[in-house]
Amino acid sequence: MSSAATPPACPIGVFDSGVGGLSVLRHIRAALPAADLLYVADSGHAPYGDKSEAFIEARTLAISGFLVDRGARALVVACNTATAAAIARLRQRYALPIVGLEPAVKPAAAATRAGLIGVLATSGTLESAKFADLVQRFGSQARVIVQPCPGLVERIEAGDLDGPLTRGLLARFVAPLLEQGVDTLVLGCTHYPFLMPLLRELAGPRVELIESGAAVARQLTRLLAEADASASARAGTERFFSSGEPARLAALLPQLWGAAVTVEPL
Ligand code: DGL
Repeated sequence: MSSAATPPACPIGVFDSGVGGLSVLRHIRAALPAADLLYVADSGHAPYGDKSEAFIEARTLAISGFLVDRGARALVVACNTATAAAIARLRQRYALPIVGLEPAVKPAAAATRAGLIGVLATSGTLESAKFADLVQRFGSQARVIVQPCPGLVERIEAGDLDGPLTRGLLARFVAPLLEQGVDTLVLGCTHYPFLMPLLRELAGPRVELIESGAAVARQLTRLLAEADASASARAGTERFFSSGEPARLAALLPQLWGAAVTVEPL
């Protein structure tokens, strides 16, 4: 007699330079409650923001290889910097559904009333050809003012979401944008949604803050046509890997993921 048990579904592989991709993973978990998720934090090599495209491409291919070897049926590059540097190469290598992140310039251009949007991101993202192309496509609808945020990812990697150093840095990055009159701010790095409460405090209630996590989860769901799996009664699982010190990521997970979880070495 054949077993009635549901065969284990292939997991979805998600990665970032560190903990930033967890801000995307939470949207994926909400959109696909039955999906098994593998998450890699490349903390041993974070931050990516000031590294060369060749280095980021090599890390992207290495991590994706690790995830594909573990059966990943789809990949989410939960990092704007890695998407800009390497997603084209990744798509050449794997014929899987692959979803990347890009700063939400399109929705911001549609949302702004002042015709002025600010983009907070890493230098790597802002200097990429992919970002230049994005601004070219939507720049006629709104003026785009960019602000690189060196040092911010490191604060978030340290679990400092609200301390004086993080506040000081963020205030310094946001002030010139507000002075120029932006009414819409794009969080163009997956680490930054963890600073949403602080950003809201600094920017005030009238500035719209836009992140890409929910849109990415929707796009992934569409690609996977997951309606059936989502309807399954079984709750999905998560496994976390780090190329840095697993204990450090494990210590941050209650704060950033909402649960204490074991972290395996990459
Ligand atoms: N979370 C990343 C991003 O979305 C990378 C940040 C970094 O490592 O510099 O760009």
